[in-house]
Amino acid sequence: MAKVKPTKGIVLAGGYATRLYPVTKTVSKQLLPVYDKPMIYYPLSVLMLARIRDIMVISTREDRPLFKRLLGDGDRFGLSLRYEVQPRPEGIAQAFIIAKDFIRDHPCCLILGDNLLYGDSLSGILQRSIPHDHGAKIFAYWVNDPERYGVVLFGDDGKPKDIIEKPETPISNWAVTGLYFYDHQVYEIASSLKPSDRGEYEITDVNRTYLEKGLLEVERFGRGIAWLDTGTPESLAQATIFIQTIEQRQGLKIACLEEIAYRMGYISRQKLESLASDLKQSSYGGYLIKILGEWGKTGS
Ligand code: G1P
Repeated sequence: MAKVKPTKGIVLAGGYATRLYPVTKTVSKQLLPVYDKPMIYYPLSVLMLARIRDIMVISTREDRPLFKRLLGDGDRFGLSLRYEVQPRPEGIAQAFIIAKDFIRDHPCCLILGDNLLYGDSLSGILQRSIPHDHGAKIFAYWVNDPERYGVVLFGDDGKPKDIIEKPETPISNWAVTGLYFYDHQVYEIASSLKPSDRGEYEITDVNRTYLEKGLLEVERFGRGIAWLDTGTPESLAQATIFIQTIEQRQGLKIACLEEIAYRMGYISRQKLESLASDLKQSSYGGYLIKILGEWGKTGS
């Protein structure tokens, strides 16, 4: 059997986030803080937990240098990062066209740069989901306001029957999250799409194509997973409070990329020590120094 190629990761951080104006008039939404770190750390942490280390960040032209300044070539986190531009916000599916030469014939995982996922079972679910070398796998989450999302209808057999983007009358409460795994066919499918009525290449149309071919798996996230939205001032503030509440209760950080890189074996202890020392003026750096001390004692 041919060896499956490593999964490539894409973080899509384009768009103008007009619902957050005037805050996002000068800076990309995905660079805004969610409590103690930039928003993009959260989706990046999801890819890292899925063991995806070769990642492309797609943003607007103006914001690309800022993402580069923040994350560099990824070496700090044991990753290989590269950056591309989505010149206009013409839809999520355009990411696969932009990333064509990066994905080539590898399976890939796309995550939206404003999606926050948290939960104890998440790592296991992610690691079971790759490599996704046959068809597509997406995730659904029960929400109160499905009309804001792509929505899935499940049949009695638990299999997806239909997916609709932002339906006026929702067909269910199961919203499609911004985390998607695809096989090598995704470029071909994305490049055959026509723009929707709102002028975008819709990710829902990619998923519908896989559904029609009988190649779409939809896993339902249970109640133990939190999928948070950051699209409005209210939901951004709620996400901040959520992260703050858990981090302060436990004294452990969520989406601390240096910590994840060390725990996953992507960087050495020595490297983590030097990163912690560079950041020691901040509470974030103080946290890294603290956990290094704790691991030193317990040997974990
Ligand atoms: C997009 C997708 C939608 C999905 C959502 C998840 O919506 O089009 O299907 O449910 O992301 O965050 P948008 O962010 O474009 O409103």
